[in-house]
Amino acid sequence: MSELLDKARKYEEDKGKNIAKELRPLFHLTPRTGWMNDPNGLSYFDGQYHIFYQYYPYQTVWGPMHWGHAVSKDLLKWEYRPCAMAPDTEYDGAGCFSGGAIETADGKHLLIYTGVKKVEDEDGSFHEEQNQCVAIGDGVNYEKLGTNPVICGDSLPEGCGKRDFRDPKIWKENGKYYIVVGNKTIDGDGQILRFKSDDGLKWDYDGLVIKNNFRFGVMWECPDYFKLDDKQVLLTSPQDMLPEELEFHNGNGTLCVIGTVDENGNFNEENCQAIDYGIDFYATQTIETADGRTIMMGWLQNWDTCGIRRDDFPWFGQLSIPRELSVKNGKLIQNPIREIENYYGKKICRQNVLINDSCALSSISGRTIDMTVNLRPLNMDNPYEKFEIRFADNGQFYSTIEFNAKDQIVKIDRKHSGSRRAIVHQRRCKVMAPDGKIKLRLILDRYSMELFINDGEQVMSMGIFTTIRAEGITFKALGDALVDVTMHELVEK
Ligand code: FRU
Repeated sequence: MSELLDKARKYEEDKGKNIAKELRPLFHLTPRTGWMNDPNGLSYFDGQYHIFYQYYPYQTVWGPMHWGHAVSKDLLKWEYRPCAMAPDTEYDGAGCFSGGAIETADGKHLLIYTGVKKVEDEDGSFHEEQNQCVAIGDGVNYEKLGTNPVICGDSLPEGCGKRDFRDPKIWKENGKYYIVVGNKTIDGDGQILRFKSDDGLKWDYDGLVIKNNFRFGVMWECPDYFKLDDKQVLLTSPQDMLPEELEFHNGNGTLCVIGTVDENGNFNEENCQAIDYGIDFYATQTIETADGRTIMMGWLQNWDTCGIRRDDFPWFGQLSIPRELSVKNGKLIQNPIREIENYYGKKICRQNVLINDSCALSSISGRTIDMTVNLRPLNMDNPYEKFEIRFADNGQFYSTIEFNAKDQIVKIDRKHSGSRRAIVHQRRCKVMAPDGKIKLRLILDRYSMELFINDGEQVMSMGIFTTIRAEGITFKALGDALVDVTMHELVEK
């Protein structure tokens, strides 16, 4: 083991054990210590799920990237494993960037990631080179290949940029391994390239999957490419997006392209949409479970909103709740992984409650809950105009979800959550909710809120770092609204 990896392992063990469980979310994975960004290497190996993450153990800011590691039986309850990789070689000394993982035919755990190297230019300045590298292991210890890098930016076809070439996602099909990798062309356009391999070690270029054509942002990071419900899906996280009405927002965003693959293997696009319509979501990874479900996790954060943080916390960054994906009517549908039900505690139901002012409902409160609110007008001839759920509320601090029935827009707002930074605190999303009928499912897990609208037609996620004692929930309507509320307390088991 390298000195750098040994140091990281000792450091995280030492510091990690002093972090009280209550300082972390119940189900949303946080770094063992320090900083986390993208989920990496989501895979099934040796009887359990493995997830790795972009990791800088020493501080709660981004630094030379390591790979943190955790395992789980159900993707919800995680146990830390020692740091899997440190930036300890000549070819990845500036960082072990994002990548994927898979079990090999001979029962080993293969990690494929982007090795970043700093290269000095003639004028004394530096540029980065990004190449794809492999490490093989047993689920705890990983050894980087002597033949790394296995794919060099230099070997890419003409027109491909050699500097932005990162984030391989691996899968197996018909006995062969494939990866998709993000790339920026020399004229500055995002594209996704595919490579294939017989053994996961030696790779050949296998063609262009999709080109941005300067539509959605610039560089496309963290691609994923898979079949789902008779469609082909491409997920990616574009940098430097421009907004399009309420579909895409400025900056770092998410993109889902749904289409089909023709007999020549070409991907034909049918629909482009955001993956998450909230504030903090980026860099997704998926896995197919043994029972055939496709589960996605992302970084519940956004590079543009890293100012939403608690300086008194020993960790920064968390992953989203795992989400079951499907495609319906050509659109992406997401719902919280069904195993969350195994962590249900007390159940509280309130049926047919008339809301026309601000009110609390007895026993409806908490910061670790799964709550569904079914909303409709009392009187169709005179429907309510707006409806609001206020949560993580202690009188001084609160966050809100607001539904504007006339415009069919849902807005999330954390302006009053305690944040002291001039960053994005609100986001709006256009929804399909005619006649004032809408279903809102909220997962609150201490420091985040994920809102699943109309059985997962849209999802809006955001981090909130309000004091944990702010547990209040209230409902308010302008006009007369009727609600059914079902709340499950989420508990550790
Ligand atoms: C996405 C990303 C990846 C890169 C990693 C570096 O959030 O920028 O493209 O591999 O983070 O930490």
